Amino acid sequence: MATEKLNSLKDLFEHEIKDLYSAESQLTDALPKMAEKASSPQLRQAFETHLEETKRQRERLEKVGEICGFSVKGEKCQAMEGLIKEGKDMLEMKGDDKVRDAGLIASAQRVEHYEMAGYGTARTYAQQLGLNDVADLLEQTLNEEKRTDQKLNDIAVGNINQKAQQ
Ligand SMILES: [Fe+2]
Repeated sequence: MATEKLNSLKDLFEHEIKDLYSAESQLTDALPKMAEKASSPQLRQAFETHLEETKRQRERLEKVGEICGFSVKGEKCQAMEGLIKEGKDMLEMKGDDKVRDAGLIASAQRVEHYEMAGYGTARTYAQQLGLNDVADLLEQTLNEEKRTDQKLNDIAVGNINQKAQQ
């Protein structure tokens, strides 16, 4: 929002949290569609598991807002909007299901890396601000995003990329 003021690290932290909240909210809407279109049961399961995690991650951000005394709502994360749009384009392309599965992983890993950057930054600001409980909450989510990224990587390398090549 253009009217937002950034006078302190706390202001910047608040901005980052709102951005992440919007990102998680958008992802909560997008993941069911990605799960539905995944042809590999393993990939579908990974998206479904991450949907449940994503809902908990949103709740963690609400808790961060409660602890810090601000509303987490009111921002739109344009980067996540773009990442999801690219993923949606992938869903709508015609062709081979196995190739689409590989493409879905490529999109989903971009999302995870974006989130890892956001949570890493927010966690570090929280530490700097002396908000240790908040930093712990953000680190929990950061670790979940890292695990999801690794799981997607394992699924891709373990079989989907190979199937996409056939
Ligand atoms: Fe997330």
